[in-house]
Amino acid sequence: MDTLDRTGRPEAGIDAGDLVREDRIHRGVYSHPEVFDLEMRRIFNRTWVFVGHESEVTNTGDFKASYIGTQPVILTKDENGEIRVLVNRCPHRGSIVCREAKGNSNFFRCPYHGWTFKNTGDLVGVPRRKRYPEDFDLSELNLQQVPRVENYRGLVFASFNPEIEGLVGYLAQAKPYVDAFLDLSVEGEISLSAGANQHEYPGNWKFQMENGVDGYHAMFLHDSFFKIQARSQDRVHARIASRDEGKGWTEAFSNGHAILAREAGDKTIDELKSAHPEYFARLEEKHGPERFRELMAQMNIFIFPNLYLILNQVRVIRPVSPTKTVVNMYPVMLNGAPEELNEQRLREHEEGFSAAGFVGPDDYEAFACVQEGLKAESVEWLVLLRGIHDEKVLENGSRWGQPSDETPQRGQYREWRRLMTMDGEAK
Ligand code: FES
Ligand SMILES: [Fe+2]
Repeated sequence: MDTLDRTGRPEAGIDAGDLVREDRIHRGVYSHPEVFDLEMRRIFNRTWVFVGHESEVTNTGDFKASYIGTQPVILTKDENGEIRVLVNRCPHRGSIVCREAKGNSNFFRCPYHGWTFKNTGDLVGVPRRKRYPEDFDLSELNLQQVPRVENYRGLVFASFNPEIEGLVGYLAQAKPYVDAFLDLSVEGEISLSAGANQHEYPGNWKFQMENGVDGYHAMFLHDSFFKIQARSQDRVHARIASRDEGKGWTEAFSNGHAILAREAGDKTIDELKSAHPEYFARLEEKHGPERFRELMAQMNIFIFPNLYLILNQVRVIRPVSPTKTVVNMYPVMLNGAPEELNEQRLREHEEGFSAAGFVGPDDYEAFACVQEGLKAESVEWLVLLRGIHDEKVLENGSRWGQPSDETPQRGQYREWRRLMTMDGEAK
């Protein structure tokens, strides 16, 4: 620890390798501005980052404002039907050119001096152009394109790293679970048409990264929700934990991805089948009984660094500053499912994760408590020991643990450390 003094403040630059060990995390990881800046450059600028879903830009001209780390970008469907990711930054003097969260337009006009760009990024209009030199070349001042964009079954990722491997390879051992999440739609397609449920919390982005695959906290932090569930069994509840005996596990995959999962038990399956018999019969017929059971599992899938496919939602983490994070939760609608089933999924989402929900706000409160607790300078480390003594390495290279083990978090921080200690700006 020669680069940090006892208070966790940097003395002569940060050595990120010192901040993370296999079984512990230094408190500085959650609050140093230097660490945060390095994360944006060495993690968010290097990896695939989720920027949106195809269903958010279905028509020509549709756009959605998004972020890669702290950098503003725009997801658009251009006049040729191509999905692009443009940097939301005017080449003139720096303003964002798109101020709306989403909409439809063939042009973006900068609010400052009125330069106008097509949704391909091309600069097409400069007010009072005569005062520019004769050789002023518009084509050199287009909106910048994010160099890599790939779409996996509707999930759109972008990367500032031109050298990055293809998205499918990047998803690694998490891919079959991503498929299972999407195959709950009998058409194999989901839609984020219900919009975003947006929250902001006063804490570091990695609290949310850790928490979505943390099977240890629910029984304690969300205890009040389980009590409410038990008291009113006639109602449909957010499936944050199986109410029967299905087996659970955690896995840490390559590239920092992870899962917390629980097989669906007979009770859950029977409930869903009896509520929507026709739909689930079609789904079972399409996939066969074994795969059908897998699709019904409760899955919290994390794709490093900013995406969760979790229960009934797509959850996106946006780091804003070392101690401020925005979370967007998109209730997932299943294409091909009856209206009532999608409505039920929406109600489950609201019950758990709306501003007055029984689950999400508990987590944000815990994040704020951790950020506050970490102001204690004399205690330097957070402990990630749970289950470390009998973690198994599977044949496919992923690590396997019990549902409440800290196997996923150890995997996330292995990747964090690998990227943060790798020199240069790109892989
Ligand atoms: S900053 Fe965009 S037109 Fe001047
Ligand atoms: Fe939680």
